[in-house]
Amino acid sequence: MSRITIQDLSAYKSRGERFAMLTAYDYLTATIFDKAGIPLILVGDTLGIFVQGHDTTLPVTMDAMIYHCEIVVRAVSHALVIGDLPFGSYDTPEEGICNAGRLLKETGVQAVKLEGRHDALIQCLTQNGIPVIGHLGLTPQSYHQLSGNKVQARTKTAVEMLIQDALALENAGVFALLLEAIPSAAAKAVTEALKIPTIGIGAGPDCDGQVLVSTDMLGLHSEQTPRFVKQYAQLHPLIATAAERFAAEVRAGVYPGTDYAYNWTLK
Ligand code: KIV
Repeated sequence: MSRITIQDLSAYKSRGERFAMLTAYDYLTATIFDKAGIPLILVGDTLGIFVQGHDTTLPVTMDAMIYHCEIVVRAVSHALVIGDLPFGSYDTPEEGICNAGRLLKETGVQAVKLEGRHDALIQCLTQNGIPVIGHLGLTPQSYHQLSGNKVQARTKTAVEMLIQDALALENAGVFALLLEAIPSAAAKAVTEALKIPTIGIGAGPDCDGQVLVSTDMLGLHSEQTPRFVKQYAQLHPLIATAAERFAAEVRAGVYPGTDYAYNWTLK
């Protein structure tokens, strides 16, 4: 199977073909998703929450992104791998160019994602061969500015502004736009206004693609998930039960027994 490219994405949009994206932060998960045929894998800065245990994505550093992107890229041979530019790494176009370049050069990701309106930076990155996915709606790196993770674009005026922002990012050169936590009608209006594909998370059924945070959709944590998350597996109780059974068998002297041991006669 050949590598998915940004050209394939625009072909999906012109053919009306829906596509899936998942986040991955480690080698094993990325291998499974790639073999399962997931075309887009995002090394998201949600790793700050689900790998590092922070409350928000804000503490994630470039070094952490480099570490996880490099691991995921090593696991993937088919999917397009996108690395998030973390909070504070693109406050100026100069910093953004330098850090996006580091992600591509040092890890091998094929594209970067960044949140909000950074038109000049996006123009510069795309002119210098760095493909970019935009991210509008709820932008978690603006957690404090938005007073928490709240659904965005709830009014007609806000949707109009969102469409203008989306068109500006398209003009700046993003090859796709992630839309997070907005009403379905808003996502539909943006998707219809753009030539590039939209990728929704909590943005309803009318986006061109859908993305979920893998730890949410796999049921790997016990926290409450947002309304839009569908859990395709419940791994948390499976893992907890396996750990409890292991500990109980060790305490009872059942494991390893002779079945799981090298029962060799010593010479
Ligand atoms: O960082 C991330 O995981 C994201 C999700 C919203 C897809 O951007």
